[in-house]
Amino acid sequence: MIISPRTRGFICLTSHPEGCAQNVLTQINYVKSQGLTDGPKKVLVIGASTGFGLASRITSAFGSNASTIGVYFEKPSAPGKPASPGWYNTAAFETFANEAGLYAKSINGDAFSNEIKQKTIDLIKADLGQVDLVIYSLASPRRTHPATGETFNSVLKPIEGSFSDKTVDFHTGIVSTVSIDPANEEEIANTVAVMGGEDWEMWITALKEANLLAPGATTVAYSYIGPALTEPVYRKGTIGRAKDHLEATALDITDQLKDINGKAYVSVNKALVTQASSAIPVIPLYISLLYKVMKAKGIHEGCIEQISRLFKDNLYAKNGVPVDEKGRIRIDDWEMREDVQNEVTALWAEATTETLPAIGDLEGYKTDFFNLFGFEVPKVDYNADVNEVVEVPGLQ
Ligand code: NAD
Ligand code: NA
Repeated sequence: MIISPRTRGFICLTSHPEGCAQNVLTQINYVKSQGLTDGPKKVLVIGASTGFGLASRITSAFGSNASTIGVYFEKPSAPGKPASPGWYNTAAFETFANEAGLYAKSINGDAFSNEIKQKTIDLIKADLGQVDLVIYSLASPRRTHPATGETFNSVLKPIEGSFSDKTVDFHTGIVSTVSIDPANEEEIANTVAVMGGEDWEMWITALKEANLLAPGATTVAYSYIGPALTEPVYRKGTIGRAKDHLEATALDITDQLKDINGKAYVSVNKALVTQASSAIPVIPLYISLLYKVMKAKGIHEGCIEQISRLFKDNLYAKNGVPVDEKGRIRIDDWEMREDVQNEVTALWAEATTETLPAIGDLEGYKTDFFNLFGFEVPKVDYNADVNEVVEVPGLQ
């Protein structure tokens, strides 16, 4: 079929298999150009199909020849119905990995469930024996708790009073004011239940009990801090509470891993266009200004550049892992540079529907957004008939 983008709000309902495959190939080529690192050998990535998790899987496999197992929640393809992009990304990744002689298998289902954890444990036992790196990169709006069956929904709201500031609809370019009422205690708790560290710890506990973590194993989860501009809705909002919990969980997990000399880290990453971040109010306007400033300074990075740097200069650095005063890895260092933030803050004050096309990188935002779904990717012929039904070679 001929597949075109169909959008509704901040989501795109269709995705393009060849565009997704091309994106994966571009990421693979980037990692290869960075040279082989003395990195991980057997890797489990939870949330492996898009964004930072996919970049982590690619960096593991093509940066240090690692065997990888990916867990994700994606919609398969069917005749006349394109898959969700993470399905096509994974199909392409596993095809390229196999061609390179690398082990790559995956599990599609709810990572929060006991069933998917057990399936993953069985697969590691059967095929890898143990893993030396576990990446935790889930972004989900809801979680059903495996013990109680209760379903929690996360919200993106401020906590310390109502919040009102600029936002942009990146499809139309219209800058408007958004006002959000503060969350109540239950909404805060629910968001922490979804995006906090409880499930990460459940995974590590289950893997450790099954003796599937190699001596010295590392686990990493991803967090975000961001500037004062977005603080009321992000770091001091409901999602920020969840990230506080995630960061505290890293310390608990490290305690739990003492006897195998293992360690849990949180890496604070840069703001980037992903399916998860395009849903957060105010963030798209911030990102479009940030991209403009960082591109002008030659320090812009996407997921693959970020994660490649995370592995090379941080996790597998020769002289140990550099961390901040709270024990976190900071690959948001370039985003948070004073000169970058001063310029973004000045542009923020000027941003209107009229000025944004010139002062912000709205085009870059839009392109990145459509790229997530395999659209507007160079070298792909969108008028060509493509087979929308694609198998994931290593799917269990
Ligand atoms: P993403 O939406 O691109 O990826 C989410 C992944 O989780 C996908 O692989 C998806 O299939 C998987 N997933 C979601 N629900 C699942 C479930 N129930 N079971 C199994 N898999 C499931 O998101 P992302 O932006 O790469 O976010 C990953 C992490 O990075 C998040 O913790 C996010 O907060 C963090 N982070 C994001 C940014 C940013 O700007 N995008 C910045 C810093 C940190
Ligand atoms: Na991810």
